[in-house]
Amino acid sequence: MSTHIIEERKEHREQQARVTMPDLEPEAVEMLIMRINALKRQRNAVILAHNYQVPEIFDRVADVTGDSLELARRAADSHADLIVVCGVHFMAETAKLLNPDRTVLIPDPEAGCSLADSITAGDVRQLRRRYPGLPVVTYVNTPAEVKAESDICCTSGNAVAVVESLGVDRVILIPDRHLAEWVAGETSVEIVRWRGSCEVHEQFDPGQIRAYRQRTPGGVVIAHPECPRAVLDEADVVGSTAGMIRYLEEHHPAQAALITEASMTDNLRSRFPRTAFETVEPVCPYMKRITLTKIVQALEKTQFRVEIPAEIAARARRSVERMLEVGRGGSK
Ligand code: 13P
Ligand code: SF4
Repeated sequence: MSTHIIEERKEHREQQARVTMPDLEPEAVEMLIMRINALKRQRNAVILAHNYQVPEIFDRVADVTGDSLELARRAADSHADLIVVCGVHFMAETAKLLNPDRTVLIPDPEAGCSLADSITAGDVRQLRRRYPGLPVVTYVNTPAEVKAESDICCTSGNAVAVVESLGVDRVILIPDRHLAEWVAGETSVEIVRWRGSCEVHEQFDPGQIRAYRQRTPGGVVIAHPECPRAVLDEADVVGSTAGMIRYLEEHHPAQAALITEASMTDNLRSRFPRTAFETVEPVCPYMKRITLTKIVQALEKTQFRVEIPAEIAARARRSVERMLEVGRGGSK
């Protein structure tokens, strides 16, 4: 069967289900990977991939992998002509904010995020009217228009450091209510929250962790701060996706459960062969919109370009750059 037909069938299944994992024939996967790596050289392109991308993208075509913070930092350092972001739209926007003169592509512009959709620029203006004088700290999982209304951005890796860097008693932290609640427990700064949440991390429940512990005595549970508080209370460690990798590098646990999106575990199995990982279910449907075929098309057709109106970009960039200044100390 030709690669083209296999891919067309896969696209069809994707449209039906919206959530897919790559299920191409191995030869088709190899051909696509070879094509992408050749195109990257021809086009002087760099591929940035988030930790939730499938292993074929994460291990075989990405030049840089990481959490949102690392991708933002590396985007800022890029010298490539083309930057292809294999992640969700706000990550590609962040790369564009930090590289206004370069071409930034996202292989599927519909790769969104439930947190990014939970708040608008108008909501932020309303919050400012309601809490005059309070600084607005905005999680990077937001559109550029929302970042433009903010004082500073944060990621799950540096949220506590960013909040504390402002030197005030009270801040607004938007849009994830679970991240805000976790940060509130880590600092003496009072946190005003918004109602957003991640539809993937909300699927975990504390009973799953208790069942894992019964099955796997001694297993380490590491949870992402986008999980609800009751889940985080059951975890041994809370951290961003980069924080999870750092913990594994430092401690090499015999068994571990990563309470976050499913590909994170898939990606780390080969890197940490001495750790037995619990398989977790939730998949981010937005991250999975990025496929090898769409990366080929992005590189061949120079699509889909990320553009941000100049006036919004200038203000949003300031919020991201302010975060990177604080983040230079390292992420949690
Ligand atoms: P990280 O920055 O920890 O990788 O998280 C990004 C994200 O979208 C988590 O759902
Ligand atoms: Fe957004 Fe959640 Fe997907 Fe992360 S996992 S990109 S927060 S929907």
